[in-house]
Amino acid sequence: MHPEQADSTSSRTLIVLAAGEGKRMKSSLPKVLHPLLGRTVVGHVLEAAREGLGDGRVLVVVGHGADQVRGHLAEIAPAAATVLQSEQRGTGHAVRMVMEAVGDLTGSVVVVNGDFPLVRPATLAGLVAGHEEAGAAATILTAQVPNPTGMGRILRGALGGVERIVEERDATAEQRAIREINAGAYVFDAAVLRQMLGKLGSDNDQGEEYLTDVIGLLVADGYSVAAHQAVDATEVLGCNDRAELAVLRAVLRDRINTYWMRSGVSIIDPATTWIDVTVTIGRDTVVEPNTHLRGATSVGESAVVGPDTTVADSVVADEAVVVRAHVQGAEIGPKAQVGPYAYLRPGSRLATKAKVGTFVETKKAEIGEGAKVPHLSYVGDATIGEHTNIGAATVFVNYDGVDKHHTTIGSHARTGADNMFVAPVQVGDGAYTAAGSIITKDVPPGALGVGRAQQRNIEDWVPRKRPGTAAATAAEAARATEAATTGDATVDSEVSHPPTTSPEVGQRPGEE
Ligand code: UD1
Ligand code: CA
Repeated sequence: MHPEQADSTSSRTLIVLAAGEGKRMKSSLPKVLHPLLGRTVVGHVLEAAREGLGDGRVLVVVGHGADQVRGHLAEIAPAAATVLQSEQRGTGHAVRMVMEAVGDLTGSVVVVNGDFPLVRPATLAGLVAGHEEAGAAATILTAQVPNPTGMGRILRGALGGVERIVEERDATAEQRAIREINAGAYVFDAAVLRQMLGKLGSDNDQGEEYLTDVIGLLVADGYSVAAHQAVDATEVLGCNDRAELAVLRAVLRDRINTYWMRSGVSIIDPATTWIDVTVTIGRDTVVEPNTHLRGATSVGESAVVGPDTTVADSVVADEAVVVRAHVQGAEIGPKAQVGPYAYLRPGSRLATKAKVGTFVETKKAEIGEGAKVPHLSYVGDATIGEHTNIGAATVFVNYDGVDKHHTTIGSHARTGADNMFVAPVQVGDGAYTAAGSIITKDVPPGALGVGRAQQRNIEDWVPRKRPGTAAATAAEAARATEAATTGDATVDSEVSHPPTTSPEVGQRPGEE
């Protein structure tokens, strides 16, 4: 150990460099805030550091879009402190700003670029362990990569020791052929780092203070510099533009999908399945093609999700089936069925074996055990009791133009097709409603609610008003057949159809 170096195990500080604009992203969003399968770019870096290095002091250098970055950090890493680098004069300058703002840093300082989101926790842990074992003044994370374009190259001496890092734009053609690159993660002894940052110049192609130049300065002063090589070259991929970000996203997708497949989840088409790092999935669940599982979503065991489905911030319980659906902020109970073609919005809660079928939209809707909303309906601000069936093409009319109101349907109810429930309104347990009803008044338990104009037929209207048309001809033919036989209308048994043909339906009080 060099005499001026402190005992590195005494304390450890993490510095994350996140002040750069990321010009090549061509974005109003700072580069480190771009999303990548469930976290921002810098969110991934912070999480890898937290898992790999444990909790400790975290200092994030902010500059470009500082308020936006600070706001995000307050959400995801409230314990992290920020240091402002008001002018982005290079990675060395960024670290110098931290050392000036925080005068008392001692022990090991881990510095990581904020645009390095695929690094694994174990790799950062290995970097620090290697540094501490070697007793080096600095240790850099490197990797052998197939395409080193854009990265700093590691220059090694005749004996294999690290001598310095050269940035691509300052490198000779020979140096550019080197495929060992600087990943953008380092461990330094704090005192030595402070001393060398004071010596940094900006005599390079970008006129910036490069943190990477600290390495050459250390070696020149006789300090030992170690390198820790990442085994997996994909971990060190940086993202400087949106094309690179897409490459990273695909790498991370594969990593996540492989993890879940090895954990007992069937992913039918990993190339079109996008699962955020924040999602959990139980064994024997099948994820069908073109499915996106996002945010704080958990899927239970033996469920089926997809194809063509997005589930965000939702719970899908064991053995539920969710097909061609868009689900946001919902809870889908065990053995419940959703879709095909359903839209579940926040506050939708399906109990065990409940069903939300085809072309159905729900919002703030409690759908009881075994209850069904099979077809073509909007269910908003509603409670539907267990084992109730909602007829096709029903609208829960929840909005009067100013306020939202609630509808409650009891258990074991059967509501007719094409109903409007004008909230606030209640339908009791075991009640029925007639097809085509506009329900504006409460329906007591066991009653049949009928809310529609009585039908009247104007006999012979077509022959009189539309003589000679095909309709008139067909009517005449039917009349002729009717004269000879008697027939019955067919009933569509698929669609919920309470017995509205019974004599009392359609009667108004006092009418016979
Ligand atoms: C840097 C390294 C390069 C390495 C590569 C790995 C330097 C000089 N070069 O290059 O050797 O191979 O990362 O991806 O460090 N930042 C600040 N303040 C600044 C400038 C940058 O906070 O003034 C932050 C950026 O937000 C970014 C990180 O530092 O998160 C790296 O900066 P970037 O400009 O992307 O460096 P590279 O050119 O990629
Ligand atoms: Ca970069």
